[in-house]
Amino acid sequence: MEIAFHLNGTPVSLDVSPTRTLLDWLREDRGLTGTKEGCNEGDCGACTVMVTDDSGPRALNACLLFLPQLHGKSVRTVEGLAAPDGQPHPVQAAMVACHGSQCGFCTPGFVMSMACAHATGRTDHDDVLAGNLCRCTGYAPIVRAAEQAAGEPKADWLDAPRPPPPALPMRPDNADALANLYAAHPDATLVAGATDVGLWVTKALRDVSPVIFLNGVTDLQQIERAGDTLRIGAGVTVEALRLATRDSHPALAELLRRFASPPVRNAATIGGNIANGSPIGDGPPALIALGAVLHLRRGDARRTLPLEAFFLDYRRQDRREGEFVEAVTLPAQAPDLRCYKVSKRFDQDISAVCGCFDVTVADGIVTRARIAFGGMAAIPKRARAVEAHLIGRPLDADAALSAPFAQDFTPLTDMRASAGYRLTIARNLLLRLVHARAGVPVSVREVQP
Ligand SMILES: Cc1cc2nc3c(=O)[nH]c(=O)nc-3n(C[C@H](O)[C@H](O)[C@H](O)COP(=O)(O)OP(=O)(O)OC[C@H]3O[C@@H](n4cnc5c(N)ncnc54)[C@H](O)[C@@H]3O)c2cc1C
Ligand code: FES
Ligand code: FES
Repeated sequence: MEIAFHLNGTPVSLDVSPTRTLLDWLREDRGLTGTKEGCNEGDCGACTVMVTDDSGPRALNACLLFLPQLHGKSVRTVEGLAAPDGQPHPVQAAMVACHGSQCGFCTPGFVMSMACAHATGRTDHDDVLAGNLCRCTGYAPIVRAAEQAAGEPKADWLDAPRPPPPALPMRPDNADALANLYAAHPDATLVAGATDVGLWVTKALRDVSPVIFLNGVTDLQQIERAGDTLRIGAGVTVEALRLATRDSHPALAELLRRFASPPVRNAATIGGNIANGSPIGDGPPALIALGAVLHLRRGDARRTLPLEAFFLDYRRQDRREGEFVEAVTLPAQAPDLRCYKVSKRFDQDISAVCGCFDVTVADGIVTRARIAFGGMAAIPKRARAVEAHLIGRPLDADAALSAPFAQDFTPLTDMRASAGYRLTIARNLLLRLVHARAGVPVSVREVQP
């Protein structure tokens, strides 16, 4: 596949295998070994690079990027971060001044995440760096360096935003072209952010060809409000959705803050999260609790279905040959939604259990309840018996402790949690909802006396 992009300010044209990763190409073909390979699965951030397109710069994991995803964009690696006269970038200078590096293996990845935050003016350093792992330095000197650099002028030698490039044969640039292409190649693997598909290639060594790349399909990357409904295109990234829903759906946005890490969220799409059909994906439980509707398209034919009806069985979805996810629609406001994710680590971890509750209480009585869980069954699933149990009674501890979770779920024991733990934690999350609605602080990050 013939692609073109800028690397450290220089145009590059390549004929590439569609599933070659940027990380392998940088290190093996270009000798740019400053971009490190740690986990090769999006977990450590050692391979973080800066990718700039029409929406500006963002940090991405090079190990999860197939080269054609970079077509028309600008890539900066740590080798291209300093000024043309050799002066270090402000985050590099601050890392030296604050002693932010010891063995140095993680440092290029940290520096690239920090440089992206510096360029976009972000100062929520703990969140920005949640996808970068350091085994020696400890995070305090690194965060101090980020704080120090934040006051320095922007690096004006870095890449300016670039307009979207024209389409390529297997990289359509609008939804109609995608529909035609996929109808003609229904055996193709759709690649959106590649944060799932990337691992099928690099870890499971699967041949996923032929591949259709979705990241040029800009009309699927829109979030639109029409009356009481929010329409989210399948190609909207998890990070874009998080930013767009902070006021209207704060519980969803807070859940998405704990979805993977910033570099993964900058690539991962909501369409990929749904279509992947994982029983422990974080998007589906929240969207099901909100009563989301899924919009599917095959050629010119479109259909809609409630999101919960899409998930049929383990990794089996109601998706026909040549059909793709176009969008998901949900209520434009969600004042009653609460989402609770339980995982072994706060940041950068997949859910053991994720419980999402959209429960309305009027005059002290539950009048409406939509509750969905991830990690409790082979699919993301509604807790219909629990919903029925709650409706018509006060939302209190008795109601939570007597809720019939075992009627709704027969969870598995796996490496993340045992079946018994999962059932107990599901009930405890409902209890947490009771406390939260009563105004009791329930943040897991606050120690209560
Ligand atoms: C380190 C790491 C951490 C992660 N943490 C989390 C987490 O905390 N929570 C969580 O939920 N997930 C997590 N994930 C999983 C992954 O990031 C999400 O599932 C993500 O939303 C997938 O989106 P994508 O765009 O990258 O999909 P891709 O990998 O591009 O595609 C995934 C699947 O969806 C299909 N697909 C993509 N778009 C469409 C479409 N429009 N129509 C039809 N099919 C389509 C693809 O063909 C493929 O089958 C993590 C992944 C990694 C690597
Ligand atoms: S090598 Fe660990 S995130 Fe890419
Ligand atoms: S300095 Fe050694 S891993 Fe961070």
